[in-house]
Amino acid sequence: MLTKDQLQLLEQLLSSASHEQKIWLAGYMQGQIGQASAGTAPATAVNKPNVMIYYATETGNSKGLSLQVMKAVKAAGYKVKNAAVNRVKIEDIKPDTLAIFLCSTHGEGDPPETALEFYERIKAAEAGALDGLQFAVAGLGDSSYEIFCGFATDLDREFQRLGAKPFQDNALFDVDYASHTGAWIEQTVKNMDKLVGAHAPEQTVSVHIADENIVRTGKGYTRLEPIIGTIKQIVNLNDIDSNKETYHIEIAYDDEVFYTCGDAAGIIIPEDRHNGDAAPRLYSIASSPSYHEGEVHLTVALAKHKTESGETGFGIYSKYLSELKEGDEITFYIHQNQIFNLPGDDTDIIMIGPGTGIAPFRSFIYERSERGSDGRNWLFFGDQHMHCDFLYQAEWQEHLATDLLQRIDLAFSRDQDHKIYVQDRLKENAKDVMEWIDGGARIYLCGNKDPMSKDVDQALIDIIASQKGISAEDAGEFLADLEEQDRYLKDVY
Ligand SMILES: Cc1cc2nc3c(=O)[nH]c(=O)nc-3n(C[C@H](O)[C@H](O)[C@H](O)COP(=O)(O)OP(=O)(O)OC[C@H]3O[C@@H](n4cnc5c(N)ncnc54)[C@H](O)[C@@H]3O)c2cc1C
Ligand SMILES: Cc1cc2nc3c(=O)[nH]c(=O)nc-3n(C[C@H](O)[C@H](O)[C@H](O)COP(=O)(O)O)c2cc1C
Repeated sequence: MLTKDQLQLLEQLLSSASHEQKIWLAGYMQGQIGQASAGTAPATAVNKPNVMIYYATETGNSKGLSLQVMKAVKAAGYKVKNAAVNRVKIEDIKPDTLAIFLCSTHGEGDPPETALEFYERIKAAEAGALDGLQFAVAGLGDSSYEIFCGFATDLDREFQRLGAKPFQDNALFDVDYASHTGAWIEQTVKNMDKLVGAHAPEQTVSVHIADENIVRTGKGYTRLEPIIGTIKQIVNLNDIDSNKETYHIEIAYDDEVFYTCGDAAGIIIPEDRHNGDAAPRLYSIASSPSYHEGEVHLTVALAKHKTESGETGFGIYSKYLSELKEGDEITFYIHQNQIFNLPGDDTDIIMIGPGTGIAPFRSFIYERSERGSDGRNWLFFGDQHMHCDFLYQAEWQEHLATDLLQRIDLAFSRDQDHKIYVQDRLKENAKDVMEWIDGGARIYLCGNKDPMSKDVDQALIDIIASQKGISAEDAGEFLADLEEQDRYLKDVY
């Protein structure tokens, strides 16, 4: 169709054009054709690049947001995929895609646990490794923390160091993010259209969000709009002789505030109790929304330490909670967790929850009972001594007797001359654990991040390696696959 000279000119131009210039040219040509024929070009007339949406999440907010962004980007005519950053390597990020990163911040300005390795890879990469990539970052955070959206800010800086170019400013969202991200999504799509030269008509991209991806907003769902409940019951679950005090606290409330199993309650402390530390604390919800309607139950361990003068000091919030009395008012909100929740009714679950890690599993078991779930339930629990530290012992025995709980394995570390922990019980049951996993079971882990959750990770890798006869490295990949498929879920703190 072109003459030889024209073809030569075109090839010359293309060989010297950057990736962005080629995208611009495509849009320009499309615009020319549109003007010559119909006058206006439709929004999807340009050959739009693929879009990758990466998310780094701990409690699922960024993942939920990625689904909303995906819908809007797809509706605007782009091919789009989303992926957790967990195992993404630099070479997986293709410069001919547009990349959107959605990331929360945890710890003290740190990446979510699942994004730690990704961030290490980014920091270790050489300048220029992401040359040509055009990207946008949105951070989810909580401005009551000292380092607001620290990970999003760090990531944005690192990407630029590696040669990538932001196509819009870094957007940082606070706890009320769900009220603002709709407008951000619309603007992002418009910016992408502008970037690729699509002559998008002045229209609003309608973001249709499926019910399951809607984050509940408003009163009761963030620390900005907490609700007031009343203490219905408070009881120390540890018996005489125990080194611990763990309080079962039942809060009754009247507001129309809903939670699902796996959510936590954020506690707001009265001003005269916080000693200047008013960053709210979260506690896993130990009640079932169906079984314990209108109530939120917590399992709170009183945090203790030795002060410099050798006296016993206490954690601020757990001390406040432990001293509440029946009838007292308490201010709290629901902190939603969109990942750590129950699977379908026929799926087996393995729950590993030593200490206060037991809390969400009490919620799970009552909820499954209410739903009449067919899936089997297996609990691993551990603490120091059986006779004084077996939290909710009578309830678990009842669940076993009524066949709501099929298996329970207990690890009381100080009841014999050598320490036994939940990870040891897992390894003792390696064959059955593997059979449950191969049969589709989901594994849940809740409780202390360090060292417990790391030790359980390692025990699972050992089990997979020995039962499948594969290397530790392959077993690690197997476990990472389970995590990626939301079949190994953690809520650790
Ligand atoms: C998602 C999530 C779910 C959680 N679920 C639960 C749950 O179900 N149950 C539960 O009990 N906890 C849970 N936690 C932990 C909880 O939020 C609090 O972190 C915990 O209760 C300690 O808070 P605190 O205010 O009592 O202690 P802080 O005052 O924050 O102190 C933290 C620790 O430092 C120690 N400390 C304080 N001052 C000193 C000092 N001067 N010298 C030495 N040590 C000191 C304290 O004893 C304590 O151990 C959860 C956390 C998260 C993130
Ligand atoms: C234990 C904990 C620590 C947090 N630390 C920070 C922080 O240091 N800075 C911040 O901006 N937000 C912090 N947050 C708030 C989260 O980033 C915020 O809740 C976000 O919406 C979570 O998104 P995700 O579900 O995608 O992980 C923290 C939240 C928790 C539960």
